[in-house]
Amino acid sequence: MDFYIEPSENLSGEIEIPGDKSISHRAVIFGSLANGVSEFTNFLSAEDCLATLSAFKKMGVYANLNNDKLIIHGVGINGLNKASEPLYLGNSGTSARLLAGLLGAQKFESTIEGDKSLSGRPMNRVLDPLETMGVYIQSNNGKLPLHIKSANEISNINYSLPVASAQVKSSLILASMYANSQSIIREKSVTRDHTERMMMSMGYPVSVSDNVISIQGKSKLNPIKFNIPSDFSSSVFMIVACLITPNSAILIKNVGINATRIGFLRIAKMMGANIDIHNIRMEGNESVADIEVKTSSLRSIQIHDSDLVSLSIDEFPAIFVLAANANGTSIFRGLRELRVKESDRISSMARGFGRLGINTVEFEDGIQIEGGKLDGGSVECYGDHRVAMSFAVAGASAKNAIKINNVESIDTSFPSFLDSVKEIGILISNN
Ligand code: S3P
Repeated sequence: MDFYIEPSENLSGEIEIPGDKSISHRAVIFGSLANGVSEFTNFLSAEDCLATLSAFKKMGVYANLNNDKLIIHGVGINGLNKASEPLYLGNSGTSARLLAGLLGAQKFESTIEGDKSLSGRPMNRVLDPLETMGVYIQSNNGKLPLHIKSANEISNINYSLPVASAQVKSSLILASMYANSQSIIREKSVTRDHTERMMMSMGYPVSVSDNVISIQGKSKLNPIKFNIPSDFSSSVFMIVACLITPNSAILIKNVGINATRIGFLRIAKMMGANIDIHNIRMEGNESVADIEVKTSSLRSIQIHDSDLVSLSIDEFPAIFVLAANANGTSIFRGLRELRVKESDRISSMARGFGRLGINTVEFEDGIQIEGGKLDGGSVECYGDHRVAMSFAVAGASAKNAIKINNVESIDTSFPSFLDSVKEIGILISNN
């Protein structure tokens, strides 16, 4: 499927975006491991989260998903069973890395497989520390497929994360639940903390202080009822569309604004974005708010190895679209991690901008973007949902129509994207 986007204006409306992807994965994982039945509403029925759900069903967990309501019958931390076939996790790095930690600590063998993009992504970042805990995983040179052996004793870990990664942190937290004593994990930069928050709200003994996470082994999780906030990262595409399109104003309701996720707001505000946050409240252990956005005149920005990077890691393709529409030249450094996401996001975006008349210079760890006005043209998204959605919203303020080829990957995180962008008035069609 391809998208065609025409120059648009007057975007407006009050919209709601589907549930948070990271929290939906964790709902399946911790719901499955709880002692009893949990109920999650606003669950994200996108390919990535459904891959996690299907893996747990194959390990004997009973779950019922009806619209966005997930009822999951937890089996306790020792209640999973060996799957009779490999666990296929599609495009989802979160599923693969978190499950490597959890399954590495089980008393049965498992195999994890994924699509071409996932099979090219680095897994050593979890395999190496897990090995020190007594987990044995055979990989294809640090990549998928992973053949996970049955575990004996799991040792606790005292580990400083060499990369800022919530997936690695969460993988080690999951394995630590099976250790005999307390584990300590230190982060050099703060990353999303949905794992810690969900475990705390389920009564598991985990604590966080000054970037140090302590996890007690062999405790238990109580079931919960939880309404998953809307996904901030998906909302960002609507925010960017509104900021760059003439005469636009939108309100996005009930969005998760967890402080570890909203680096984008600070970056966009530094660029002159007109964004207001209203009605801040807590839903369970997560903060939620309504976000009001108006068309803004944007200026360039320079970001060098900032703490803001890990707080906005998924938002850079969309931030690059802001930079391409800003007055002046922006420079982003310290973004090496973007090269190992669903695609190499630095080069995917640079190539697309090249097709649309925006000058960029690529660095090994970043990019320079000369702001201007995008021209029309045809771009690839390299199987990367966030690249596809970034160029789709960029099309709203381009001089001429933009075509985006093969946008199927959007279904991994935001299957109703087309409806949402149409709802605010972007002139978009598909074939
Ligand atoms: C995620 C962590 C991040 C993020 C991904 C979701 C998570 O990955 O990019 O989309 O749910 O833990 P890294 O841990 O690789 O930074």
